[in-house]
Amino acid sequence: VATAIEAHAMRRAVELSAEGLGRTSPNPVVGAVVLDRDQNVVGEGFHAAAGGPHAEVVALAEAGERARGGSVVVTLEPCSHTGRTGACTDALIAAGVARVIFAVEDPNGVAAGGAQALRSAGVQVEGGILTREAEAVNEIWLHAIRVGRPFVVWKYASTLDGRVAAPDGTSRWISGPQSRAEVHRLRSLVDAVIVGTGTALADDPALTVRDEDDVPTQRQPLRVVVGSRPLPPHAKLLDTTHADTLTLDLDPAGVLAALHKLEIRGVLLEGGPTLAGAFLRAGLVDEVRSYLAPTLLGAGPAALVTDVGTLAEGTRLVIRDIARVGGDIRVIARPSRIPSSDVEG
Ligand SMILES: NC(=O)c1ccc[n+]([C@@H]2O[C@H](COP(=O)([O-])OP(=O)(O)OC[C@H]3O[C@@H](n4cnc5c(N)ncnc54)[C@H](OP(=O)(O)O)[C@@H]3O)[C@@H](O)[C@H]2O)c1
Repeated sequence: VATAIEAHAMRRAVELSAEGLGRTSPNPVVGAVVLDRDQNVVGEGFHAAAGGPHAEVVALAEAGERARGGSVVVTLEPCSHTGRTGACTDALIAAGVARVIFAVEDPNGVAAGGAQALRSAGVQVEGGILTREAEAVNEIWLHAIRVGRPFVVWKYASTLDGRVAAPDGTSRWISGPQSRAEVHRLRSLVDAVIVGTGTALADDPALTVRDEDDVPTQRQPLRVVVGSRPLPPHAKLLDTTHADTLTLDLDPAGVLAALHKLEIRGVLLEGGPTLAGAFLRAGLVDEVRSYLAPTLLGAGPAALVTDVGTLAEGTRLVIRDIARVGGDIRVIARPSRIPSSDVEG
């Protein structure tokens, strides 16, 4: 059992872990707090980038000698394997820590076993503290490791009557500037963005992450185009000055398997309606984000193309969030096959 101070420190560690969101892939986000033997906070850290020091190591460095006989509170079970950086269990043992409290068991076969290694060295270990909160922050990574494929968010912008383009193909700026800015932030949090060739050919999107001044940012997700039709040589997606592009002519499961091999953890499926329909039918959409603009068209392609024949064949969703984004409404929902205990987040 964790003390009240340790539980409080775990809350802080979860907060710290979130600082790494969008920066640590293919690694998880992790936060850590070091308490001295009197339970004063003497160190804090988070994992800030793959290849960089792990959260425990950062926090131990800040604590120095004060960690001796104290506790380390960390959101993920410490790793006991030596990857690009040394094993965290070795660092914890060397620092003379008496207790380690973690939230989530490491689901990763290679890294797992940290708790056991620590116990063997005489360190007291407690797991399962604030697990739900810690899992929610790390949801994309945990999903990828546990399920063996990336977490898929399907995002679209439509008119209130569900149209994603007009009959003449015009589709730019259906949603407002705030929604579009939010999509850029979303892209910056995933490892890949996916579109079908239909969208690539119709809209010639760049799919890069750009800042408020429309300048491409440092970290760019991989751009993935799915389908068999070739893109014209001047297509923006073939301009790899700022970001890479991968073309795959595979079914949705094949696409995700290929991306999983590349250690891609989270993807944003940006349509179009045909490819989104194929992912949905295959049960490969984990979250839906709809940006609904206060416009009516009454004509033009619908957000989704499927072969559904009757109401019972529709995909039931559970709404997780509704918000106003500028003049638009954003709905975040998940297929109801995901147990509601996970949905609460
Ligand atoms: N407002 C929005 O949020 C938004 C977003 C995206 C698109 N759009 C609009 O949507 C329209 C394009 O729609 P779309 O449906 O033609 O484009 P799409 O869904 O992007 O592309 C369809 C193509 O995807 C490929 N594909 C790969 N795997 C598939 C599979 N398992 N099943 C079916 N297709 C697969 C096929 O390409 P091949 O034929 O090359 O093999 C297919 O023709 C445009 O008007 C665009 O503006 C709007």
